[in-house]
Parts: sequence; structure tokens; C-alpha cells
Amino acid sequence: MTERRLLKVPQHVAIIMDGNGRWARQQNLSRLEGHKRGSEVAREIVTAASRIGISYLTLYAFSSENWRRDPNEVSGLMGLLKLYLESETEELHKEGVRLKVIGERNQLPNTILSLVEHVEELTKTNKKITLQMAISYGSRAEIVHAVTEIAQKARDHRLDPEKITEQVLEQHLYTAGVPDPDLLIRTSGEKRISNYLLWQLAYTELIFVDKFWPDFTPEDFMETLLTFQNRERRFGTAA
Ligand code: FPP
Repeated sequence: MTERRLLKVPQHVAIIMDGNGRWARQQNLSRLEGHKRGSEVAREIVTAASRIGISYLTLYAFSSENWRRDPNEVSGLMGLLKLYLESETEELHKEGVRLKVIGERNQLPNTILSLVEHVEELTKTNKKITLQMAISYGSRAEIVHAVTEIAQKARDHRLDPEKITEQVLEQHLYTAGVPDPDLLIRTSGEKRISNYLLWQLAYTELIFVDKFWPDFTPEDFMETLLTFQNRERRFGTAA
């Protein structure tokens, strides 16, 4: 990889890993084969991100809407997640990866939930990179969840409604304590946010890549980082 050319490393990169199904159709494979290849690519990108010095990587592995897919695909994806957590934990831990899951945990099968809790506990002091896996995640649900908690605190007089600020809301999101993404990458050519990190993406640079996720390489990742580097971010201030 051409890491030398990279002068400005984003602190937090979020990715929508889109196009597994279309890639599989193109190759005459099952959708699940597409997701399988997709999970291998995800693994490669975690290592690449960590080597480059990115501190936070957030991957959209399963949306709250994905529960409505064909039950075979849903159980296949859950199986892949389980396999990923079981087979990669030791290596991820060795590489200094801290794993965190964001999403509606109570919807996850018990086997996955206990694995997630185990990996989070095991890796909680790791410092090299934080990998946030969005599983059963939907951004509007996340915001509703945060607002509900805030309303309950206000009702119980644990929070003054006059003191509800952006910071207070942020502290109640699943991503509490994690800086907003500097860069969002979506593969497969689709140009949508799809209920992903709506609050957190307020000032994020968006890059859409015309490749299906299973074809996305660490070199493509580096290319997007170079594109990001050449963009000027103003956070709403004048040019
Ligand atoms: C979008 O492709 C991708 C997903 C719905 C899930 C992403 C999951 C993986 C990459 C595999 C699991 C990940 C890990 C880290 C274990 P799509 O099915 O929407 O593709 P399509 O739009 O071409 O149909």
C-alpha cells in the first residue's frame, strides 16, 4: 500500500459495506457467498485501518431493516457474524483492536449476544483501534432510544430539561464517547445514508465508491483516504 503519500489520517472512518448480493449474482454465487467474501474484506480493512493509524472504524454489518430479509439470508448473516467473532477474536485482540457493538442488542440471538459481551470485555482496554460493529443498528431507533433515556431522567428529576444540549444527546447515543466520523465510505455506487449514524455524520465527508464491497481492496481504501486528504473541511465556516 502507498501509505507514504498519506499526510492527513482521518481519526474515524465509517463504512457502508454495500453490494455483496449484486457481486454474488455477477459471479453466479449465492447471496451468502457474497456476504462471506464481504466478511473477509471487512477483516482486511480492519487490519489496513489499524496499520494506517485510524483510531476508530465503524462498519455497518447488519441494519435493523435487514431482519426483514429472507430468513435464510438472515440466519446465514448471523452465522457469519458468529463465525467472525469466534474465529477472529484472538487475532483482533493481539492486534490491539477494541471491539464494540452498536445497535439493538436485545434483538440479537443469545449466542451472538454472549459472544459480543465476551469480546467487548476481553478487548475493552485495547488502544490501537476501536472497531464499532453496527449490528441490528438503525440510526433513528438510536436517536429515539437516546431521547427516551433523557426523558426518563428529566421525569425522575435526574436531569434539568433546560440543560439538554447537543453534548447531552451525544452521551446517550450508542456511540457515546466516540468522536464523529471524519469520513464515510459507501461501496456499490449507491448514494444514500440508509439510516446510518444520522446524527454523527453532520459534518462528515462522504465518498461513494463504484465497486461492490467484495471487490474493495486495501488499495481502494487508501485511494479513498487520499481523496479525503485533498478535501477541505470547513464545518460550516466561511471559505
Ligand atoms: C450489503 O450488501 C451488506 C450487508 C447487508 C451486510 C454486510 C455484511 C458483511 C460484509 C458480512 C458480515 C460482516 C462481518 C464483519 C462478519 P447487500 O446484501 O445489501 O448487497 P446488494 O445491495 O447488492 O443486494
